[in-house]
Amino acid sequence: MRKFRNGAILLLLAFVLVITGCSKDTASEKTANAAGKKTTGLSENEISNEAFKNLFPLQYNSYMKNKKMEDTKYGGSVKRSKYDPDKEPLLPILFNGYGFATEYNEDRGHVYALEDIRSVKRITDKSVGSCYTCKSTAVPQMIKEMGDSYWGANFNKDIWPKGEAMGHSPIGCSDCHDPKTMDLRVTRPSFYKALKAKGVDVSKPTKNDMRSYVCGQCHVEYYFSAKNSEVTFPWTKGFKPDEMYEYYSTIAKENGFEKDYISNISGTPILKAQHPEFETASSGTHGKANVACADCHMPYERVDGKRKISSHWWTSPLKTMQTSCGQCHGDRDLDKLKDRVIEIQDANVKALHEAQDTSTSAHYYVNKMITSGVSQAKIKEAQEHVRKGQWFWDIIAAENSAGFHNPQGSMDSLRISLDESNKAIQLATEELVKKGVNLEELNAEIEKVKTAVADEKVNEKKKDHAVNSYFPGQAPVVPTIPTTTKK
Ligand code: HEC
Ligand code: HEC
Ligand code: HEC
Ligand code: HEC
Repeated sequence: MRKFRNGAILLLLAFVLVITGCSKDTASEKTANAAGKKTTGLSENEISNEAFKNLFPLQYNSYMKNKKMEDTKYGGSVKRSKYDPDKEPLLPILFNGYGFATEYNEDRGHVYALEDIRSVKRITDKSVGSCYTCKSTAVPQMIKEMGDSYWGANFNKDIWPKGEAMGHSPIGCSDCHDPKTMDLRVTRPSFYKALKAKGVDVSKPTKNDMRSYVCGQCHVEYYFSAKNSEVTFPWTKGFKPDEMYEYYSTIAKENGFEKDYISNISGTPILKAQHPEFETASSGTHGKANVACADCHMPYERVDGKRKISSHWWTSPLKTMQTSCGQCHGDRDLDKLKDRVIEIQDANVKALHEAQDTSTSAHYYVNKMITSGVSQAKIKEAQEHVRKGQWFWDIIAAENSAGFHNPQGSMDSLRISLDESNKAIQLATEELVKKGVNLEELNAEIEKVKTAVADEKVNEKKKDHAVNSYFPGQAPVVPTIPTTTKK
């Protein structure tokens, strides 16, 4: 409760500041102003983490803990490929025809964001500025300077060198704090734009809202608009997987965005989902009870003997059960509570693997429809099921809590995925039987490619085993797409 009372006092202070006209401070003001509110003395354009080091050593040191690399059963921060056998070995098939089939890694600490975007093989000479949006402290300033031309600018040629010249830091203090007052703030314009479109009043977020909003700027599903590659969140119809799918089928489509890529296996136009932690957590038990991201991921901790700070080590709360979960579930045996989390995750990941496996088979069934001369209409119908089957697992697979943020919602999505993929397989089966295709042979060939992909040791070569003479690639001959519409 204490933090809510502190919040009220801060709000009151801010109010006093406004009515006494003291909010207009100058950069040199380092000490108390009339109403007692301190400013840091930093420029409002400060983007270097190091500039905050001496002013806030406790938070800075906590931030530096993000360098630690340590895994939990499903999460954690060791740099690992998502293609690993115990993770999701079928991804090079499911993303075949797209960069995510070349390299796709588990998330890790914020301090690595720049290093990781720089080295990932998905970034090519055609990548756009938008890819930089969630990685660097230079972004807000760049958007201010470049306006809407930022989004579609060339990543390698323009954006990265500019960020380096500006002295960018990986995800840092200025991304969430006003450098002068240290008030929490949202710095990525796409976030409020999308909330407004959804009908949320963003003019007066509460302190508790801000403890999730700062994370929601980046930990969300998004796409690059067809018009100018702007990072856009598909929220107008709601946060649930089916509501976002509905958005893509209507609003996004009407505005020229239909797909992220065409599957090289089934020729299906596919939507690639991205880390929807904000949407998922908001729809889950905790989010509905107004528990914020920061409650679990930035618990108050005692440092320096006695001082309490908000932890700035954004990692798995399973590493900090006492401070993270204990503050609200102190009456429970925390070891048992942790077992409960793992149980939830085990069930979700099991369902996830089933959905993924069936989705993969569905792609190959459609591949066989194409090479067996089934009618275009039937192929299209099957492809729509494949597209849905993939969306409803990917939106859960790309989410980073292995089901914990919303156990029921995740299971529900995976159920829809399985249902859709099975519908594609059923439809294909009916048509393939008519064409006299040997289904036993087809199933054996599917198992063969799955094994070949899993057995290849070199990650970027895995995708090459997903197609062969039995399953020829279906990617269209790509016409020269203007770089602005390419992810
Ligand atoms: C009730 C507590 C709770 C809340 C609230 C919560 N999370 Fe989590 N989060 C967890 C747990 C537990 C995990 C699973 C960690 C694991 O598997 O080791 C997790 C996992 C994650 C991960 C992956 C961590 C990893 O180790 O790879 C990210 C990213 C994340 N959460 C972001 C968020 C964001 C953003 C919000 C707010 C929109 C949020 N979480 C809200 C408890 C919470
Ligand atoms: C991803 C967002 C984010 C980043 C990045 C971030 N902070 Fe914070 N910070 C928060 C949140 C959330 C709080 C809690 C504020 C609240 O509850 O009112 C906080 C609180 C604070 C506070 C208030 C005291 C406390 O511990 O609660 C200070 C000081 C602070 N941060 C300093 C820093 C510094 C220095 C950096 C950079 C090294 C930094 N922060 C980076 C989100 C962030
Ligand atoms: C400016 C964008 C941005 C903001 C703001 C942001 N994140 Fe992240 N976060 C990322 C990116 C990008 C990664 C992955 C970095 C990598 O793997 O190199 C990440 C990774 C994480 C991880 C995984 C760490 C691990 O150990 O695996 C957690 C947990 C997390 N963020 C939680 C949060 C929370 C909680 C907030 C809000 C307080 C927040 N993030 C705000 C972009 C952001
Ligand atoms: C800020 C308070 C708060 C924090 C922090 C918090 N919880 Fe909760 N938790 C709640 C509330 C409120 C509920 C819902 C209780 C209810 O409706 O009966 C809940 C429910 C749960 C449930 C039952 C979920 C369900 O769907 O029925 C589990 C399991 C749980 N929490 C685990 C955790 C874990 C693990 C952590 C730490 C990672 C955590 N909680 C952190 C407040 C919190």
